[in-house]
Amino acid sequence: MDTLAIDGGKPVRKNLLPYGHQWIDEADIQAVAEVLRSDWLTTGPKVHEFEQAFADLVRAKEAVAVSNGTSALHTAMYAVGIGPGDEVIVSPMTFASSANCIVFQGGTPVFTDVHPGTLLIDPAQVEAKITPRTKAIIAVDYSGQPCDYDALQAVANRHGLILVADACHALGGSYKGQPVGSLANLSCFSFHPVKHIATGEGGMITTDDPDLVQRMRVFRNHGITTDHRQRERQGSWLYEMVDLGYNYRLTDLQCTLGISQLRKLPKWVKRRQEIAQRYDEAFAEIPAVEPLGVRNDVSHAYHLYMIQLDLAQLQATRSKVFSALRAEGIGVNVHYIPVHLHPFYRERFGTGPGLCPVAEAAYERLITLPIFPQMSDDDGDDVMAAVRKVAEVYKR
Ligand SMILES: Cc1ncc(COP(=O)(O)O)c(C=O)c1O
Repeated sequence: MDTLAIDGGKPVRKNLLPYGHQWIDEADIQAVAEVLRSDWLTTGPKVHEFEQAFADLVRAKEAVAVSNGTSALHTAMYAVGIGPGDEVIVSPMTFASSANCIVFQGGTPVFTDVHPGTLLIDPAQVEAKITPRTKAIIAVDYSGQPCDYDALQAVANRHGLILVADACHALGGSYKGQPVGSLANLSCFSFHPVKHIATGEGGMITTDDPDLVQRMRVFRNHGITTDHRQRERQGSWLYEMVDLGYNYRLTDLQCTLGISQLRKLPKWVKRRQEIAQRYDEAFAEIPAVEPLGVRNDVSHAYHLYMIQLDLAQLQATRSKVFSALRAEGIGVNVHYIPVHLHPFYRERFGTGPGLCPVAEAAYERLITLPIFPQMSDDDGDDVMAAVRKVAEVYKR
């Protein structure tokens, strides 16, 4: 690294510690090598095996594997019948896909503000945004903390709405003892390498509703009702395309990696929680640094660990603090620019500043710190030392 540390001296680390990273071991490599030697590279037996293992783990009746978290969300929007004229309530404090999936289907995202402590969608504000056109709510388990599903489900039930969880951050978390993946009508996951388990690209949707499962299986396979293995078994070449679908399939190669990774999930989530706890304790002593609030009825999966800066106590902007931490060798990031502030949404839907003031104010103060299971305690110490150093130098 060629940047100078904030005090002109040596940075805390020489090499940049990323904010997230996959963990691939020999068992994963062996599993993938076996599939490479098998007959099936795309849709073979590993897809069903991964779906089954995943559904069991999150205590859902069914799981449908797809090509990534974005296609999981799109498939969910299709399955519940979102179309032109429909409104779907969604948090702005998320990655663009959580809202894009609504637009893919011709629907309108209705951005609804978050709770200032947790930055999770606020159920009371959700209810206030419901109109006769509202069809669904997308709850984003931001940073890995499950939303208040009892409150959201109560709102959904009162108004006849479908509740979809964007659980891409929260695999391995739980709410009131119930695993993420079994808390909404449909729950969507991502297996991008920075997430809890990695399949390269990859995604999953879980549900207890067999009709939705049927619709999703057709949608992920071009809108065709049978797959080639079924046709082979039936000795038939006939297939019918019954709706406009996509090729959103996840391959056997990826599913076998997913099965192998899933075995390590409980241990990995525990490690993420340990790292988070060490951060919480350290930052409790730095007045200008506030960790996000955690509800006491959840087990937080800590895909991300964010701090909010109390800028009144610092002689620096977030951007300056961000650069200073990078210069110390800490691969900080920012999650997220609120989605309604992106040019696409401003131009297409007339959104902009003022729509979700809590999310907008939080964005100005947020910094994401490194957290991933393979991080050592020494790595964690470096992060804490760098935050301490930067907060001290910029103290007002
Ligand atoms: C909250 C959230 N939703 C959806 C996605 C999309 O997942 P993928 O990158 O697998 O398409 C992501 C990934 O970054 C995400 O963080």
